[in-house]
Amino acid sequence: MSLPILVLSGIEKRFGGVQALRGVDFTLSAGEIHVLLGENGAGKSTLMSIISGAAQPDHGAMSLDGAPVNFQTPRDAHAAGIVMIPQELDLVPGLDIAANLFLGHEQLTGIRTLARSRMMREAHELLRRAGVSLDPALLVSSLRMGERQLVAIAKALAAEARILILDEPTAALSATEAEYLFGTVRELRARGVGIIYISHRLEEVPRIADRVTVMRDGGVVGEAAPDAPQAELVRMLVGKDFKDLFPPRAGLLGEPILNLVHARFVPLVDRAGWQAPQDVSLTVHEGEIVGLSGLMGAGRTELLSALYGFEARGRWVGRVEIGGRPVKLGSVATARRAGMAYVTDDRRGTGLVLGQSVARNIVMSTLPRVTPWGLASASREQAEVSAALSRFDVRPRVPSTRVVNLSGGNQQKVVFAKELLSGPHLLLLDEPTRGVDVGAKAEIYRQLRDLASAGLGVLVASSELPELLGLCDRIIVMHGGITVASFDAGVSEETLRRYSLGEVQAA
Ligand SMILES: Nc1ncnc2c1ncn2[C@@H]1O[C@H](COP(=O)(O)OP(=O)(O)OP(=O)(O)O)[C@@H](O)[C@H]1O
Ligand SMILES: [Mg+2]
Repeated sequence: MSLPILVLSGIEKRFGGVQALRGVDFTLSAGEIHVLLGENGAGKSTLMSIISGAAQPDHGAMSLDGAPVNFQTPRDAHAAGIVMIPQELDLVPGLDIAANLFLGHEQLTGIRTLARSRMMREAHELLRRAGVSLDPALLVSSLRMGERQLVAIAKALAAEARILILDEPTAALSATEAEYLFGTVRELRARGVGIIYISHRLEEVPRIADRVTVMRDGGVVGEAAPDAPQAELVRMLVGKDFKDLFPPRAGLLGEPILNLVHARFVPLVDRAGWQAPQDVSLTVHEGEIVGLSGLMGAGRTELLSALYGFEARGRWVGRVEIGGRPVKLGSVATARRAGMAYVTDDRRGTGLVLGQSVARNIVMSTLPRVTPWGLASASREQAEVSAALSRFDVRPRVPSTRVVNLSGGNQQKVVFAKELLSGPHLLLLDEPTRGVDVGAKAEIYRQLRDLASAGLGVLVASSELPELLGLCDRIIVMHGGITVASFDAGVSEETLRRYSLGEVQAA
């Protein structure tokens, strides 16, 4: 490997009482993919915000091409060729894709003088290079999470970076889309771009890494070989040997909770890119965890949100039963009365109030239960919150922390704690472990299995096939808003992929 272009040494950063980085050394060479691993809250994103000028270190030095640098703003870093796609995307939902692609780079590209048609053409080309066929005139607010991720990648491509930082780029992508991203990233590497790649998906490491650095608790634990066995990576990450990621499956199923037979959802208004459920047949029993597999656009998110009546106005046709009785779903109030809870795939857009404390966020969904007669019971509230924080291992375990200051994975744990505390009978989950580290994942899986054993039914959409295969009792594949196949837990990834692609038609 050539000489490093980027060298960080002794980087320290403290936020109030939290020592986020304690003396981190890190290097990056041109034309390498350097994977950065670490538990939730290990300090990965903080380190990246220092490299990209969004934060300044308290101590330590950074140099680029051998010369010391000291970025005061993201603009400084950008001018030096450092581009970051943050973990929580910074696209502007109210603008169209094209406007987002060129936002902030106007001076660099002189795009201000470009005619709109030329801008659209260039946008189109950027999207193509990132592997998406989306109309650049679409509003970002109309896109699903995975598509937004791909737009963010296209935006980074537009910037002609020398150093590209990807903070959990595949968290919302399916295997097929991730594959495409790998291709794009390898192409950039071949052109000499240095790439820092953060992920909690350990199975990606051997596929993409030239070098692997593991962080824990604000420091660097060491480097791992790109082809190191996953167990070894986990040991470095967590600091100890790790038992099974997935709990044993339960044997016994109870009564059906949710039953759909050739059910279809008719939206009040058609929305571009919103794949309404067309023909859905599935059953979730008490004690059962049912997975939804499929590509982006298969209609998994739409199915969940139409069941919950969230951001989906319209009516269901066909058989829709809860607890054996027909039910008219269509509003969140109905869904909650029917015992449903919902964890969306967009924790920032729909799950959390960022400016509020962790405690406030957790209590929000449980208010009626915590204070049955509208009387605030502060001590009871506190007890519920601290129980939830320890059950989901939210770090730091400080109820007054504002959610916006938590690491990405810890925000996700808060969403979970909040929904489960409402004591649902049927839990709808959309990418529930997005951005969650391996230890916390195991904990979430264990909780889900425990709750299932106590009668909870779970319907979970996930792009991570290993997660579906390890966690679920049954997996249903969707394609074009239709449930095309249903498999028990022994199915292979390959089979799921083939059905997801629509290569095999429903039997
Ligand atoms: N602006 C901030 N104010 C207070 N604390 C912060 C702030 N930003 C980060 N932290 C804290 O610094 C620590 C490191 O957070 P960071 O976001 O870097 O973790 P991470 O490794 O990216 O985790 P994840 O995998 O969950 O994204 C965490 O304890 C976090 O709560
Ligand atoms: Mg992070």
